[in-house]
Amino acid sequence: AKAPMRVAITGAAGQIGYSLLFRIANGDMLGKDQPVILQLLEIPDEKVQKALSGVMMELQDCAFPLLAGISAHSDATAAFKDADVALLVGSRPRGPGMERKDLLEANARIFTVQGKALDAVASRNVKVLVVGNPANTNAYIAMKSAPGLPSKNFTAMLRLDHNRALSQVAAKVGKPVTAIEKLFVWGNHSSTMYPDYRFATADGQPIPELIHDEAWNRDVFLPIVSKRGAAIIEARGLSSAASAANAAVNHVRDWLLGTGGKWTTMGVPSDGAYGIPEGTIFGFPVTTENGEYKIVQGLDIDTFSREHIEQTLKELLEERESIQHLLS
Ligand code: NAI
Repeated sequence: AKAPMRVAITGAAGQIGYSLLFRIANGDMLGKDQPVILQLLEIPDEKVQKALSGVMMELQDCAFPLLAGISAHSDATAAFKDADVALLVGSRPRGPGMERKDLLEANARIFTVQGKALDAVASRNVKVLVVGNPANTNAYIAMKSAPGLPSKNFTAMLRLDHNRALSQVAAKVGKPVTAIEKLFVWGNHSSTMYPDYRFATADGQPIPELIHDEAWNRDVFLPIVSKRGAAIIEARGLSSAASAANAAVNHVRDWLLGTGGKWTTMGVPSDGAYGIPEGTIFGFPVTTENGEYKIVQGLDIDTFSREHIEQTLKELLEERESIQHLLS
């Protein structure tokens, strides 16, 4: 039997946690033959820790065959000890009267502490996925706070945007999602991200030819995907949680187990491709193999795409600028 892998999860008593933990314990993320130990981090608040203990009771009550251990923590260095995978989900939500800048700063403090803790105690090859918003900038901060770990191991979640785009395109062309390839999303996980189907195919046929409607791309598809998070809050009264957890499972699974040559979307530190400054955590098309991702290189960028890529990049660089003083 395989040795258990250690997965650390922050914000474990939150909404996304309530879906995510059970999916991981069920083997959806690491495979049905991979035992897992869950190391859960929450804020020290007594009520939140109590809620977390309730979630742990439910995990026990599922009697998952692959669940080899669970622990709860309020300290990042305890939670991240020897972690093979770290899912940074918990973050500071925007409170009443809080400016965007305050939000960025509050999160910068959290992700500085967590980056340092990972650097100190996690596995030297820990794979980090940041879900908590602003995800790309939080991932950047954690990466910069962990100089002893490989920068390439710090990623941000664009997979929910990717999956949203995928199901919209599949519905438009009347094909199952499994027929669609080479679809991806550029940029920041925010309303400025840019889903791009110019290279995508459905059962091998070019999607731009199947859709053949630039107005649909601009006036229907882009707005639906970029405003989907808001539409879910409006309908459900709460933000996307099960779909976000599913996207996190998809992201890590593909990263560790490989895409078999297929493209997906990950927010990863730029290698300078497509004019994105090196180190910027940006949504790119990637393929993965043997636990490593590769950015798909050399795609043609037309004027419309260039405008959208520049817009989402500008937002990311502004976010970075506003927290730069906190990175020593
Ligand atoms: P939630 O508010 O239900 O749960 C967040 C949990 O994180 C809370 O239990 C809170 O106590 C905890 N937390 C806060 N600071 C922490 C810290 N320093 N260490 C450990 N835990 C901490 O929120 P939900 O719905 O689970 O969402 C979590 C985050 O994911 C939010 O920032 C949300 O905006 C983001 N998100 C990102 C998506 C993406 O596609 N990248 C999609 C959906 C949500």
